[in-house]
Amino acid sequence: MAKSKSVFFCKECGYESAKWMGQCPGCREWNTFTEEPVTVSAAKRSDSGLSRKAPAEPLPVSRITENEGVRIKTGIGELDRVLGGGVVPGALVLIGGDPGIGKSTLLMQACAKIAETGRELLYISGEESLSQLKLRAVRLGPMEDSLKFMCETDLEAIENTISRIKPSCVVIDSIQTMNSSEITSSPGSVSQVRESTNILLRIAKTLNISVFIVGHVTKEGTVAGPRVLEHMVDTVLYFEGDRHASYRILRAVKNRFGSTNEIGVFEMRENGLIEVENASAYMLEGRPEGASGSVVTCLIEGTRPILLEIQALIVRTSFGMPRRQAAGADYNRVNLIMAVLERRTGLKLSDCDAYVNLTGGIRLQEPALDLCMAMAIISGFKNRPVDPGIVAFGEVGLSGEVRSVSQAEVRVREAARLGFTTCIVPKSNADKLKGITDIKIIGVSSLEECASLM
Ligand code: TYD
Ligand code: MG
Repeated sequence: MAKSKSVFFCKECGYESAKWMGQCPGCREWNTFTEEPVTVSAAKRSDSGLSRKAPAEPLPVSRITENEGVRIKTGIGELDRVLGGGVVPGALVLIGGDPGIGKSTLLMQACAKIAETGRELLYISGEESLSQLKLRAVRLGPMEDSLKFMCETDLEAIENTISRIKPSCVVIDSIQTMNSSEITSSPGSVSQVRESTNILLRIAKTLNISVFIVGHVTKEGTVAGPRVLEHMVDTVLYFEGDRHASYRILRAVKNRFGSTNEIGVFEMRENGLIEVENASAYMLEGRPEGASGSVVTCLIEGTRPILLEIQALIVRTSFGMPRRQAAGADYNRVNLIMAVLERRTGLKLSDCDAYVNLTGGIRLQEPALDLCMAMAIISGFKNRPVDPGIVAFGEVGLSGEVRSVSQAEVRVREAARLGFTTCIVPKSNADKLKGITDIKIIGVSSLEECASLM
């Protein structure tokens, strides 16, 4: 029997409560509860995703068949890498990101590639009409007929179509537009998004179909962000980047079938996204020559080293209170490095404005960034350029010591590969890098020592 009631949901984490609360006990956010009517039939409520009808038979490990070999390669190397080597059949993958970042484009390209292997695919859009989909498809190039498109928002209808066609992959674009008639609240509301994901989870697991779900991220407003769904799906990918710059970064924040360290780098072009394999060269494009306050560092993202330029602009403050700004880097880390520099090297930074920028709009917070940031600040303060052939990395401690970082050799080799001539590294790392001869390695043990080189 259906019963009608009203429930309160936290917009941030999906916490459910019978009464309104000022602070969510789940995520401790304030003012996030919204009231939503829910009508759920008693039979449906107990069905939490996986089908409970046929009890599963317990198996010893020797009788469990491995699924590893059957991962479906999407044919887009950067996407496969982030997924952990392709998408696992029956996996539910959520791709979140700001509107216009390229989620639909990425998934349509992946579908087109998978369709080339002869698999059946279904792309379901609740946002665009068929003719709009066609416009995008034409930009992306020819596509196989085994990739089918459909505009639909009703999940019961979608479920019927999927069980009839039985494609190997389904794309749902986007989860915020889907609605299930079991629930009375409007599409995009927390309960609706949750129920829709539940239905998709059931489809994925029972029919062994990989389902990609697109989710929009909104800071505020009534639309439930994908954070509500993160616990329900197998893999959560975020597609990010500056909308106005052309590169995009795909990052896994949760992955039941692979590592969450990998990133994929793409560039948005006229005819779709292309993979950027040589991310370092890409990030260093357009580097100013002979400018002060610019130093290159090497960070590790997943298993890949990436060279990045850090810029620091240091000017005397014109107001009582110095301004500090960090783009891409951690604001507090910038303040900390400046405090350490002031105390340990005697630079008078406390009455200076500082603007620190990781170029390319990338956001990274590895401690190995510290040394390079310190050098950029010193160079910016003294208005003296650093040799453009230098790459620096190392963690800086509160007493100004330079501490070792992981995978120093990988970083140094990447710098050498891109034609840099000198690496400034922590002393403890330098001692283990004696074998490398194609690039000059300078080990430093403190910030004072590093400042004296400049
Ligand atoms: P889209 O995939 O629609 O973004 P999302 O689904 O995340 O909202 O991509 C939208 C942007 O990408 C839009 O501004 C146009 C641009 N774009 C290109 O630059 N080249 C292309 O080939 C395509 C298809 C889109
Ligand atoms: Mg879209």
